[in-house]
Amino acid sequence: IKVMCVVGARPNFMKIAPVIAALREVGLGVQLVHTGQHYDVAMQQQFFEQLGIPQPDMDLEVGSASHAVQTAEIMRRFEPVLDSEQPHTVLVVGDVNSTVACALVAVKKNIPVVHVEAGLRSYDRSMPEEINRVLTDQISELLFTTEAAAADNLRREGIDSSRIHFVGNVMIDTLYKNLEKAIPAKQTLSAALDSHVLLDNGFAVLTLHRPSNVDEPGILTDLLNTILKLSEHLPIVFPVHPRTAARIDKIGMKGLFDSGRILRLSPLGYLEMLGLMLSAKVVLTDSGGMQEETTALNIPCLTLRENTERPITVLQGTNTIVGTDPERIEQAFDKALSEYQGETKIPDLWDGRAAQRIGQIMKQWLA
Ligand code: UD1
Repeated sequence: IKVMCVVGARPNFMKIAPVIAALREVGLGVQLVHTGQHYDVAMQQQFFEQLGIPQPDMDLEVGSASHAVQTAEIMRRFEPVLDSEQPHTVLVVGDVNSTVACALVAVKKNIPVVHVEAGLRSYDRSMPEEINRVLTDQISELLFTTEAAAADNLRREGIDSSRIHFVGNVMIDTLYKNLEKAIPAKQTLSAALDSHVLLDNGFAVLTLHRPSNVDEPGILTDLLNTILKLSEHLPIVFPVHPRTAARIDKIGMKGLFDSGRILRLSPLGYLEMLGLMLSAKVVLTDSGGMQEETTALNIPCLTLRENTERPITVLQGTNTIVGTDPERIEQAFDKALSEYQGETKIPDLWDGRAAQRIGQIMKQWLA
């Protein structure tokens, strides 16, 4: 029996690693297709190496383009792969363009689709990932969820309960598995001029890449000015996503890094990022995955968005939604640094065994 797993972009890699291992563990055959949506070494190859993901059996090498062209190109190139390999099922993870593109090709060939991390909803349809989530879930046969709210969302969209399985969070499987291998912040920051200042007095970590935050020059400028202000209180380490790097250069805000209080880094590997988060006093981000990772690590997280598709991180975890309003961000930042954080809890089934549950369920389902 052959399960074809699909990855394309950075947040997919930490999700697929434990799933592939678990499927093999239960005796299922696995093939891995990389769409090539992300292609920089820093955005993909180092994740394969650090997480021990097998080399992809096929690389579709689609690269960057508009959403329509990228999605269409993935579909065009994925179809012949399905024709020649004839897998029993196609397994997709997360919410990137590669996820929906490959799911759509498979379902039209009557190959059942399995979606890992199903049912998350921001209820913000201006977010490209929200469209990808809704559509992928509608055409999936088996839906694996990470938190209780996801099943409610799916049922509201007419998906039968029998197809939904609450298994926990595969990204957190990867987190626990790699905690001891995390590369210490000291090492990652050693090239920085004032690394001792960062390490002695603490630092915040910032990531930013959502189109809604970085594509509009006005919004990006305001956000970066707020960040500059925060950095007067606590230095900020900022590994910059390629999309964001291009936008910062375009709006002429390279001066952002002149104060020496904001440290610009290239996108980091998984183990470097994990080490950095472990030493951070607070994380500011618009990423989905880091909201969950900080909750599992019990580190305060300020989410620079107006909503989240991962409400459990706010209800039980360390996450606070702060949007892009300077005052709100500054207040939450002070609070995260000064006050008792309150009771937080590791969400149910975020126990490092989500992929094993997926393996068991899929074995029975495919038997
Ligand atoms: C994609 C996902 C997003 C995820 C993010 C993580 C979609 C719709 N979005 O967004 O959910 O959180 O990945 O990074 O699928 N680029 C490079 N090198 C690369 C990849 C991208 O330079 O290896 C640059 C290109 O200029 C490209 C831009 O980044 O145009 C955006 O890449 P794209 O794959 O379209 O989306 P992301 O913003 O990375």
